[in-house]
Amino acid sequence: VATPTQLPYYLRPMRMEDVDQADEIEHEAFPTLYPPTNYRKELRNRIAEYIACVQRDAEVWVQKGTKRSWTDLFRRRRPEPPEPAREELIVGFLGVWYMGGEAHIVTIAVRESHRRKGIGELLMIGATEMALLREQQVLTLEVRVSNVNAQHLYRKYGFKDVGVRRRYYQDNDEDALIMSTDKLTGADHQALFARLKEQYTERHGIAERVYL
Ligand SMILES: CC(C)(COP(=O)(O)OP(=O)(O)OC[C@H]1O[C@@H](n2cnc3c(N)ncnc32)[C@H](O)[C@@H]1OP(=O)(O)O)[C@@H](O)C(=O)NCCC(=O)NCCS
Repeated sequence: VATPTQLPYYLRPMRMEDVDQADEIEHEAFPTLYPPTNYRKELRNRIAEYIACVQRDAEVWVQKGTKRSWTDLFRRRRPEPPEPAREELIVGFLGVWYMGGEAHIVTIAVRESHRRKGIGELLMIGATEMALLREQQVLTLEVRVSNVNAQHLYRKYGFKDVGVRRRYYQDNDEDALIMSTDKLTGADHQALFARLKEQYTERHGIAERVYL
């Protein structure tokens, strides 16, 4: 039996310095979403928790806006452009709101360039592990009825259709499918989740997960 490889991706809590990339990924994944999500605010939201999937061997150089120091103003000189900052590459992220024992997935998105590599699945594994850690009963979410790819992913991770919210999405009056898992600590869900994690490791490799 071959030893599973170490994936170049890992999960960790999303941080303030990731917000620009989260905006970018959201804009790419949900171009009609208006207003866009205020991730700075969300990271301070006490019922919310966000996890980022980070690519280990990649870095992005970000040129933050120039800032004039008092000395610059005093000497009337042009400020030096700041050194570009090095940041980790965020390839996807997921957000959860904890409400009344339910972990509600409010967003999941993967960079278009990185789709179909198992990152969406890794984020679902993360959401399930976090919900269990936070002693939540079930995971729930809403998804556009037309978003069959995402529904596929959710069904794989034990979500079932529980209802419809008519004309939930305002951009095109589309209905939302409400989906929910069985009790996370129930024997059925535990067996399914154990199997899914095993299959994931076999197919993709081992991915480190760091939760707070
Ligand atoms: C949905 C999304 C998060 C999936 O991320 P991903 O990293 O590409 O997903 P994975 O590679 O982990 O695929 C996991 C499963 O999702 C399903 N899936 C994902 N993309 C699919 C596609 N293009 N066609 C069919 N099934 C697809 C499959 O069931 C797949 O399992 P499989 O590989 O065993 O067939 C990603 O497509 C995305 O960001 N979409 C835009 C945002 C969005 O729609 N979010 C959901 C809003 S509710």
